[in-house]
Amino acid sequence: MCGIIGCVGCGDRTLDTLMHGLSKLEYRGYDSAGVALVGDGSLQVEKKAGELDELRAALEDRDLSGTVGIGHTRWSTHGPPTDANAHPHRDCTNNVAVVHNGIIENYQELRDELEDGGHEFDSETDTEVVPHLIEAGLESGLDAEDAFRKAIARLDGSFAIACVIAGTKSVFVARNDSPLVLGIDDGTTYLASDVPAFRKYTDKVVYLEDGEFARLDTDGWRVSTVEGETVEKSVETVEFDAEDTGKSGYEHFMLKEIHEQPRALRQCLQGRVDELGGTVTLEELGDLELERVHLVAAGTSYHAAAYGAQLLQADGVPAQAFFSHEYASSPPPAEDAIVIGVSQSGETADTLAATREARRRGAETMALTNTVGSTMARECDHVCYIRSGPEIGVAATKTFAGQQTALNLLTLATTPGTADRDIIAELRDLPSNVQQILDESRAEGVADELIDSDAYFFIGRGLNYPVALEGALKMKEITYKHAEGFAAGELKHGPLALVTENTPVFATVVGDGEMARKTIGNVKEVEARDAPVVAVTDGHSDVERYADHVLEIPETNPRTAAMLANVQLQLVSYHTAAKLGRSIDKPRNLAKSVTVE
Ligand code: AGP
Repeated sequence: MCGIIGCVGCGDRTLDTLMHGLSKLEYRGYDSAGVALVGDGSLQVEKKAGELDELRAALEDRDLSGTVGIGHTRWSTHGPPTDANAHPHRDCTNNVAVVHNGIIENYQELRDELEDGGHEFDSETDTEVVPHLIEAGLESGLDAEDAFRKAIARLDGSFAIACVIAGTKSVFVARNDSPLVLGIDDGTTYLASDVPAFRKYTDKVVYLEDGEFARLDTDGWRVSTVEGETVEKSVETVEFDAEDTGKSGYEHFMLKEIHEQPRALRQCLQGRVDELGGTVTLEELGDLELERVHLVAAGTSYHAAAYGAQLLQADGVPAQAFFSHEYASSPPPAEDAIVIGVSQSGETADTLAATREARRRGAETMALTNTVGSTMARECDHVCYIRSGPEIGVAATKTFAGQQTALNLLTLATTPGTADRDIIAELRDLPSNVQQILDESRAEGVADELIDSDAYFFIGRGLNYPVALEGALKMKEITYKHAEGFAAGELKHGPLALVTENTPVFATVVGDGEMARKTIGNVKEVEARDAPVVAVTDGHSDVERYADHVLEIPETNPRTAAMLANVQLQLVSYHTAAKLGRSIDKPRNLAKSVTVE
């Protein structure tokens, strides 16, 4: 949801540093991109609608130089993706340039006031009020930092803002409800929406909190409060390497991340499972016990939350999954429930709003997240990391598997007496079982056969219902084809009307128990309507008799089977999208981290 980069002290490599940072932030938005540099002379800006390559091409005809700079990659909120609406935005004098992630809620009133005062606007964005407010402050005699502070004080809403001003060698930064992190190196300071943007240069980081300002200049950096008092910040070290954020020879990040799942799951399990003792320990949670749980999440993370709620319920803990945007506006009563925000990024505005509302109502909160130092991780009372490593593809894959694994561990660790040696053994085998699917999957052939379908339906029962929802979400996101996930038993109550010979149905059937038998009944219903059936199965039942295609998963228990089935569905969506030539890592209209409500 927009990416911001900035740097001070990079000398000749300022533009390269900004462009490298933007390439790592493109997953946050790719509607337009731009940079602003300040050197000894004036402010220089280039910005272009479209993906980063458009900006690269435009820069070939320019000779931009400077030792201080900011850059932006946009996911549009106010105004369509045009050159004019691309960031950075400038004031009337062309001395102030601003990049912004978030939404300025009172921009219309500020714009009316500024236009009445003679300011002329070039764009339809909310952001453009900021450089004009700074301009007004400078005209009134304030120095650059005070003009910046005064402008920020006028804003309502969410923002991560960075600004350069001709005549200074500084980047001015402010944060409220949108992520910003500083990268610290000898003589150089970076700022970005996310660490991968500068990880190539440094692993030392400082996370900014809401309400904090920072000034980066050639002498170093300083973080301060709204009142201007210095805030002592700790410099932390990030654990992942720069290579972790590259494609490592894969055609797409998504494919790389699908193939990284065995490693991600090993990382999640490492040091937390004692197979001999039959125990699971999540050190970061101490001896926390869960008595009642509300899981709040959005998108793929909601599907993981729905899966986790079922695990907890099976172990006797009343648990429910909620869409975070619904929870934030009308949280259900449950004073004693711990509220767990499930979020890859830890920055999703809807989910942050839900955990904040829970805290406001006095509930204990936990972040189950991939992102160390994220806002949710820092704000919640407890944090459980899924340890999947950086995920760049907009479509979540390895982090869904990481969330499911962490939710298994969480259930086993916090519901006393439930750790079960068989489940622990299945979790131990999970990475190698995923690897087996990656090595042997026939998903590409299935994608090929079904490429001309009108729509794709996914069905499952129990733990396989969230997997059906996730299978459909992945298909929609990256292929742009109609796809729906249904609880298998619901099909006959309406959705069956959609089923034709051109709508394949993917059915996950695990084991040969009652659930499997009932799902096979639903498979027969769609088969009778001539729909092609793809069975995702461990081979225990006779579902193959009714299926046109079979995607096998290794034999395991229902908890891990649902995770394995998901890997097959990820591969079908990926190969379908690849055959359709879609922009797999950057699907249209989407952004990885949605930091507006
Ligand atoms: C998943 O493929 C999507 N990119 C999206 O649904 C995502 O899961 C959702 O926006 C939540 O993000 P989070 O996990 O970072 O909170």
